Amino acid sequence: MKGKTALITGAAKRIGRATALALADEGVNIAIHYNTSEGEAKNLALELESCGVKAWTIQADFDVQEQYETLIERTLELTGSLDILVNNASIFPFEKLEDVTLDSLIKNMEVNAWVPFVLSRSFKELVGKGKIINLEDSRTSGYDWSHIGYIMSKHVLAAFTRYTALAYAPDITVNAVAPGLILPPPGKDQSYLDRLVGTVPLKRHGEAEDIAEAVVFLAKSSFITGEVIYVDGGRHLKEYSNG
Ligand SMILES: NC(=O)c1ccc[n+]([C@@H]2O[C@H](COP(=O)([O-])OP(=O)(O)OC[C@H]3O[C@@H](n4cnc5c(N)ncnc54)[C@H](OP(=O)(O)O)[C@@H]3O)[C@@H](O)[C@H]2O)c1
Repeated sequence: MKGKTALITGAAKRIGRATALALADEGVNIAIHYNTSEGEAKNLALELESCGVKAWTIQADFDVQEQYETLIERTLELTGSLDILVNNASIFPFEKLEDVTLDSLIKNMEVNAWVPFVLSRSFKELVGKGKIINLEDSRTSGYDWSHIGYIMSKHVLAAFTRYTALAYAPDITVNAVAPGLILPPPGKDQSYLDRLVGTVPLKRHGEAEDIAEAVVFLAKSSFITGEVIYVDGGRHLKEYSNG
């Protein structure tokens, strides 16, 4: 892994940040994609450089077609090479079934499923060889009644993972990590997790580092493709309750 280069989308904070630190710990250079978190991205780059790897920051708004369609090309101009793509950025809007609209569905699909696919396709065309890891969600094994557009988009991302794993073999492996209860969504606090830990067979929530560890495992593996690793304390084994 030492000397390889990874692009991680939405890497400035939370799970993306933990993944950047874990890959850097293996000697991987990191291109930190961000949208609005410029300060956090630049601070992370300094932290990664102090660990002895190269780090770059690159901005793109995944609501803007021109910005995400050029992201892999712009990353290559900065880094010179690319070996790993981690599709981590996402939106998670609260939305009940009765409230879902075509516009909200399209917005979730664009950021959470379409952009990861476009980046994967560009990676195939411009890089040609390496590893792609998509961040899915363990709730695709059941129901999430409170984030309808989001969960639909993660189902589509799961399908893209399987299609691209087949289409891009043997040069590129495509796998996914499906987190469960890890961090409270933006705007919620620890009480959000405390309220839900009872639904987790292992009776606790996970940490961002647990997800990062699974991403590193898939980035290192050369004979796994089309696989999903559930990092959710066994939550996908149970039927999800209402909300
Ligand atoms: N947290 C959990 O417990 C959990 C559970 C299940 C699945 N997951 C999945 O794991 C991944 C990471 O989760 P997380 O909670 O760490 O994610 P997050 O904090 O909600 O989002 C990660 C980043 O996505 C970027 N982003 C959002 N909208 C964007 C846009 N329009 N254009 C470009 N970037 C955009 C943001 O970048 P900026 O800050 O730079 O704007 C944000 O920091 C996600 O795919 C999520 O669905 C997480």
